Amino acid sequence: MCLFRRKKDNCSLMDIGLTADVHSHILPGVDDGSPDTAESTAILEEMHRLGIRKVIFTPHVSRAMFPNTAADLQARFDAFLPALPESIRKDMTFHLASEYMVDEFFVEAGDRLCWPDGKHILIEMSYYERSPKIKETVFELGMEGLQPVLAHPERYVFYQQAFDRKKGVKELETLVDMGCFLQLNLLSLTGAYGEASLDIVRWLLESDFYRYLGTDVHSRSQLDRFTGFRLSAGQLEKVRQLARNNETLFV
Ligand SMILES: [Fe+2]
Repeated sequence: MCLFRRKKDNCSLMDIGLTADVHSHILPGVDDGSPDTAESTAILEEMHRLGIRKVIFTPHVSRAMFPNTAADLQARFDAFLPALPESIRKDMTFHLASEYMVDEFFVEAGDRLCWPDGKHILIEMSYYERSPKIKETVFELGMEGLQPVLAHPERYVFYQQAFDRKKGVKELETLVDMGCFLQLNLLSLTGAYGEASLDIVRWLLESDFYRYLGTDVHSRSQLDRFTGFRLSAGQLEKVRQLARNNETLFV
């Protein structure tokens, strides 16, 4: 276990206390995540072993790559749950939402799947090109009474390039000022996405920009990387708070 008095330590998912995951690609055969029920079951069994009990499935929805509709995803979700082992079904809670690409084909109002409170909606952009519609989309979702949550801001190359250690990332701050929440990808803290991502994720975490925490898990093997987090005592406490924030979504 991590010792809070130590400046740095190797932490695992269980040290962080993540019991509720808000971002995952476990629903089989609908995006670039799990391809089949066997893989999805293996992911969920490992998540259960790691202490996770509540999982939001957030398959990608984008016209170009993954043109999923809410009705199709719901039908897949309803068919998938009974296929899970009873040991998993009785001990875990599942919810279907989506991760929506912000582009010119952004999902219509009647076709959205939100987090369990019915208000939080997970959005993303291309990693390499900022969406010209991001501010407009955040504004419009807010006007509709929804709470936009931008997935893994630390992964976007254009934010990494704009990042200044003293000033942060102005355009990201603008989104937060407009009411957008930010969701941290846990893998970013392991350095899995490179040094540029690690630099910005640490800065955003220490500066209290994040609200929620997600695994964004796509495969069983990815879960093996959720060990060896090198966190200061302060960073660990902030990550643990994000894990607690996740739990409030399910009450
Ligand atoms: Fe994702």
